[in-house]
Amino acid sequence: MANGKIWWQKISPRFLGKLTILISYFPSTIPQLQTIVEAKTQHPVADNRSDSFSRTPHFHVECEGALNEQINIEYNMSYIYHAMYAYFARDNVYLPGIAAHFLKECLEERGHAELLMNYQIKRGGRVELQSIMPPQVDYDHPEKGDALYAFELSLSLEKLNNDRLIALHRVAGEADDANMQDFIEGELLADQVKSIEEVSRFVGQLRRVGNKGDAVWHFDQALLKA
Ligand SMILES: [Fe+2]
Ligand SMILES: [Fe+2]
Repeated sequence: MANGKIWWQKISPRFLGKLTILISYFPSTIPQLQTIVEAKTQHPVADNRSDSFSRTPHFHVECEGALNEQINIEYNMSYIYHAMYAYFARDNVYLPGIAAHFLKECLEERGHAELLMNYQIKRGGRVELQSIMPPQVDYDHPEKGDALYAFELSLSLEKLNNDRLIALHRVAGEADDANMQDFIEGELLADQVKSIEEVSRFVGQLRRVGNKGDAVWHFDQALLKA
């Protein structure tokens, strides 16, 4: 193994052409060489350092673009949850259980963005971070109060994210990229469905409670101990 290369990696394109002709005359006699020629012609390693070496044909530009969009959605969600945390941690609102819950959600969504970034890098795509919308500052609602309003908003966001993950999965399916589909299903969609169930239960409890201060306080305490 000279120069860190095994012998078949040193086959030049000119010699490769001659080998192809040779194999076409004697296809069954040298199957190993045929495999090498096939691999080298169908999957040439990029010459240019600006191109990814690991990128495979199934990983279309549409997959790369859709992954960048999903990274942006996760960051936007993380930003909204961070704003909710800041609202419920205020001294004149102070519901520490709800604040801690939204901080956990914020970090979880940030984790999803990072997971998608690392997947993009793994597949040889380029991570292109886009701008994040500034979230609202206040979460109080005249009839619902702040806790129910915030959890209903959270449920809508989680359902929207589920739609976007399914759309991302569709893009991977159109490219016949089984690995990307498997990544979305295993790493993101399974947890997304669990999140929707969890937030739905909180909405269910808060719908009973309504805008009653003492009941919201009990809900918050229960969340703090969970
Ligand atoms: Fe997420
Ligand atoms: Fe989530």
